[in-house]
Amino acid sequence: MYKCKFVLILFLISFPFFSYSNEGATGIVKERMGKFQESKNLMRAINKNLSDSDFNAITQSAEKLNKWANEMHEFFPKGSEASSSNKSQASDNIWSDPEGFKKAIKTFEKASAKLIKISKNKNIDDTVSSFREVAATCKGCHQKFRN
Ligand code: HEC
Repeated sequence: MYKCKFVLILFLISFPFFSYSNEGATGIVKERMGKFQESKNLMRAINKNLSDSDFNAITQSAEKLNKWANEMHEFFPKGSEASSSNKSQASDNIWSDPEGFKKAIKTFEKASAKLIKISKNKNIDDTVSSFREVAATCKGCHQKFRN
């Protein structure tokens, strides 16, 4: 009984953003920050997998990035831009240039889809250059759409 409670509390501490979700801007900002942190970890993992030539792991990470690319747009509803009350770095450009933002997401989506495909061929040079292309799409979007 006590043990069960302990596990539940640990669970709530580990996933604090659960309690915020669906509470407007703060919730969605926290959620997308979590997604981007996950992207960073996936890119780090791929970087390591490249030195181990673990192509299967790279394919799996690229699939997760691609899934996120397909969902990302929903995580930027109107009114969720950076403000004094949230810690967001989302630029106003996302909403003033919606087509540009869509295009930046699409570029990331395509680059991650290419990495899924290329990594399956298990050629290290091709996979490294495809990985660099993905990294460039992260940077490209940040330059325009992150404060
Ligand atoms: C289409 C645009 C776009 C792409 C592509 C993109 N990002 Fe971002 N990223 C953003 C925006 C906008 C924010 C700011 C979100 C906020 O603070 O509300 C952000 C924030 C972040 C953060 C900070 C999260 C935090 O805790 O505040 C990290 C880390 C990050 N991105 C990593 C990545 C990585 C790695 C990739 C590529 C694999 C990537 N991003 C691709 C737009 C993008």
